Amino acid sequence: MGKRVAIIGAGVSGLASIRCCLEEGLEPTCFERSSDVGGLWKFSDHAEEGRASIYQSVFTNSSKEMMCFPDFPYPDDYPNYMHHSKLQEYIQTFAQKKNLLRYIKFETLVSSIKKCPSFIVTGQWDIVIEKDGNQESIIFDAVMICSGHHVYPNLPTNSFPGLENFQGNYFHSRDYKGPDAFKGKRVLVIGLGNSGSDIAVELSRLAAQVMISTRSGSWVMSRVWDDGYPWDMVYVTRFASFLRNVFPPLISDWLYVKKMNTWFKHENYGLMPLNGPLRKEPVFNDELPSRILCGALSIKPSVKLFTETSAMFEDGTMFEAIDSIIFATGYNYAYPFLDDSIIKSRNNEITLFKGIFPPHMEKPTLAVIGLVQSLGAAIPTADLQARWAAKVFADSCILPTMKEMMDDIDEKMGKKLKCLFFSFLRFGQSQTLQTDYITYMDELGSFIGAKPNIPWLMLTDPQLALEVYFGPCSPYQFRLMGPGKWDGARNAILTQWDRTVKPTRSRVVSETQRQHPFFNLFKMLSFSVLLLAILLVFY
Ligand SMILES: Cc1cc2nc3c(=O)[nH]c(=O)nc-3n(C[C@H](O)[C@H](O)[C@H](O)COP(=O)(O)OP(=O)(O)OC[C@H]3O[C@@H](n4cnc5c(N)ncnc54)[C@H](O)[C@@H]3O)c2cc1C
Ligand SMILES: *[C@@H]1O[C@H](CO)[C@@H](O)[C@H](O)[C@H]1NC(C)=O
Repeated sequence: MGKRVAIIGAGVSGLASIRCCLEEGLEPTCFERSSDVGGLWKFSDHAEEGRASIYQSVFTNSSKEMMCFPDFPYPDDYPNYMHHSKLQEYIQTFAQKKNLLRYIKFETLVSSIKKCPSFIVTGQWDIVIEKDGNQESIIFDAVMICSGHHVYPNLPTNSFPGLENFQGNYFHSRDYKGPDAFKGKRVLVIGLGNSGSDIAVELSRLAAQVMISTRSGSWVMSRVWDDGYPWDMVYVTRFASFLRNVFPPLISDWLYVKKMNTWFKHENYGLMPLNGPLRKEPVFNDELPSRILCGALSIKPSVKLFTETSAMFEDGTMFEAIDSIIFATGYNYAYPFLDDSIIKSRNNEITLFKGIFPPHMEKPTLAVIGLVQSLGAAIPTADLQARWAAKVFADSCILPTMKEMMDDIDEKMGKKLKCLFFSFLRFGQSQTLQTDYITYMDELGSFIGAKPNIPWLMLTDPQLALEVYFGPCSPYQFRLMGPGKWDGARNAILTQWDRTVKPTRSRVVSETQRQHPFFNLFKMLSFSVLLLAILLVFY
């Protein structure tokens, strides 16, 4: 009999965890408080207690080839950026096809997780669950916490003097579902993260006036990147990551800022981040600059003071007659079922080895999956984290000593801590240096023997090696070799661009209808004529 593992939550992290436990011969039981899989992506038209809540118009900001389960590509007709309902369909299909549903206990809340008295010897946990008002306590050999971190709103009302006098209504973006109620209204959005800008852009089409107040500004990126390809298919490559790391910071910062400003000059739109080159997590929004150009939306600094009806900003300007204020100020993470000291062993800071394992455990039988966020997609990250955790539980991987883990946390996370664990800062945006997604994934991959060996590929399969190195660092790469490899990975990598262009090439122009060939011929002709003319002149 394999060890029994409790998994809290059946979002994408929980599903990845169930699957990885099965791969290691462990016995998973997943507890999910709601009635379906998907977590955050299961939309409901009112915010539910203890569960993430999204608005009706959420689309993904990673593209489909970069955010799939690594052995489960999206159907090729799926759009690159998906509406939440489309992603939810995919997640449900994954759970069905991989036979994961029978390991999930729905409508079951985990209310407490405690070490058993015998923990030092057994590493076991006592888990209390609640279903239909009944409590039950069950012993497990290990625990994976997959309960999400977009759940507990950060509503910094105390840092806004005068808010208590404000007569209109205010609420957290968690309770925002759609724009209908704001027709003709004057709305202030606080916070320039992904949610804040999405909401403001959406409101700007109906509302009378919309402003975003931001303390520190943000880089705004388009989903549509060079040559119209999805941003991450071009940006998240091993080669680009190598280039970013090989230049001295001064140069790579300069290049970064230059790149970020090619679409539009952030300074002129009031968006320029305070610490310009700091790799703050960018905002993805294709319409924000255009709404600002159209005057439907404007960007303001922090609010200094609220009165009954208006806001005064730090620069002394006012926004008058405000009807509603929306706080898009992010989330605080919380694990109400767990003693806080397990995750934060020091100064109220998160101390987790590689963002997963608490280092101070006598036995490594607890893992947090899906908390670390780098500039990459959640699904492949969770899959790799869960694979490693399952191997640690199954004793086929061994963690370093407590001291080594703490040193690693101090060294690597020390200054980057805030960037790994985004969100807990005031106003909802991390002040981050981005953690490089590929570096993090490779590190996890190397623990379980799944990091792609590119020199070896170069010798044995050069075509694949080139696509792995210069092409997008898609999730399939981490199931290409080593334990847990997927036989379809090679083919999935070599066909990823086909699946990318398929859904948008919905009107195919045949070779003869294109103007290229003739156009090129024309260019070549005129070039030869020019050359000839120059020769003639000089003789
Ligand atoms: C607006 C928005 C857009 C995003 N867009 C993207 C994107 O494009 N790409 C991307 O990669 N990421 C995106 N993310 C990040 C997102 O966090 C991840 O995509 C992913 O959904 C996280 O999954 P999870 O399983 O870790 O957590 P969740 O999806 O939050 O799932 C947690 C589950 O645990 C359950 N649960 C919690 N507590 C308990 C308990 N005590 N007992 C039982 N069950 C419990 C909950 O009911 C829930 O089902 C976005 C986030 C937001 C807010
Ligand atoms: C996508 O948006 C979500 C929600 O704001 C955010 O947590 C995540 O970091 C974003 N992804 C990227 C790659 O920036």
